[in-house]
Amino acid sequence: MSSERACLDELIRFLSSSPTTFHAATSAAALLEAAGFTRLYEQESWSSLPEGKYFLLRNDSSLIGFTWQGPKTKSGFRMIGAHTDSPSLKVKPNPLRREQNCLQLGVEIYGGALLRPWFDRELSLAGRVCWQEKDGSLCSALLDFQRPIAIIPSLAIHLNREANKQQEVNGQTDIVPLLGLAGEEAFDFQQLLLGQLLRQQPEAEPVGIIDHELFFYDPTPPAQTGLAHEFLVSARLDNLVSCFAALHALRTADTKTNCLIVLNDHEEVGSMTAAGAQGPFLRDVLERLLPDATTRQTVLRKSFFISADNAHAVHPNFPIKHDPQHLPKLGYGPVIKFNANQRYATTAATAAQFRQLCAQAGVPVQEFVSRSDMGCGSTIGPLTATGIGVDTVDVGIPSLAMHSIRETAACSDCLYLCAVLRYFFYPCKPL
Ligand code: CO
Repeated sequence: MSSERACLDELIRFLSSSPTTFHAATSAAALLEAAGFTRLYEQESWSSLPEGKYFLLRNDSSLIGFTWQGPKTKSGFRMIGAHTDSPSLKVKPNPLRREQNCLQLGVEIYGGALLRPWFDRELSLAGRVCWQEKDGSLCSALLDFQRPIAIIPSLAIHLNREANKQQEVNGQTDIVPLLGLAGEEAFDFQQLLLGQLLRQQPEAEPVGIIDHELFFYDPTPPAQTGLAHEFLVSARLDNLVSCFAALHALRTADTKTNCLIVLNDHEEVGSMTAAGAQGPFLRDVLERLLPDATTRQTVLRKSFFISADNAHAVHPNFPIKHDPQHLPKLGYGPVIKFNANQRYATTAATAAQFRQLCAQAGVPVQEFVSRSDMGCGSTIGPLTATGIGVDTVDVGIPSLAMHSIRETAACSDCLYLCAVLRYFFYPCKPL
């Protein structure tokens, strides 16, 4: 099997095993553990760390991994950042509703989800639950039902002739998943979670589930489509493709250089959390590694940060949505993102550096800037640059249907991103 096929297969496995931000962080940790990385805990002191390969988690949903060769004041860190979360429907604390003989679960909309594609799909449920053990201690674990357990049916066209014209989706009333038929007897949602917990953790002795952070997701596996299988379609391509490419690079990083990846949760909701890119996670780790402020500043000024997050490819049905001089195409390689108002952190200097990297890695590269009469998104790039003062470039693979429950990208672009990030961490190392 070719190394490209193996890389794609591994990406597809990573996507499948990461239905929520918590599962993404766990899948990432498993990949690093399998590559010989040692887990560190923030609750412990780990000053004067010996040379090696390490990772740590915060909130079970953000991860920092790095290779460590000591302070290395002559060369800085090579760093890559991405985010683990994706827009979704999050179950409310007291979610159960009974409506017209149907059991339903009330949800909040997490992030800027494109809601229409959530209708008429089998949905599963996954996330994190906290419970109390018989001995009184509080525990938490990840849950994943893995099979379809819900659906949000559309309203039939006969009952709404306007349905194919642009129409609002009301988050409170229109998009409430159906969990089953209500029946006569009472239904206990906590009991459902408890049953699933015991299936996954038979050794647990829970008194009862206390709290949960659960998200609906589409259990349909990722797939390749197109005449030559050139498209990769999946949930959460934004931004698990970048997370995977960063992990792929770190696993084979040149151990003579300090390389670091940060995979943040909460990007889709503004990043202002303890585990998000506006929080102190990365700064805390850098301060532990380089406690002397002058040394740290010297090293950071020599460092380079690649913020990787998907970009909007030009949609063949809607080319008008792009600036005609900047039309990122599927299959033409990673995109450098520019914005005069610094919603992306790219500068001429950092873009030039990334272009050179792509040239050396044999990867094509393109540019994105939004139409001047439209706003644009943002990424963890400007937040990280602001937080630690590191030179940063914003890049990402071109993709379609961003924030849909099923997004589309080109397989070749995923491989290009893996190749250039791997080259960044280990010059001369092919995919
Ligand atoms: Co994103």
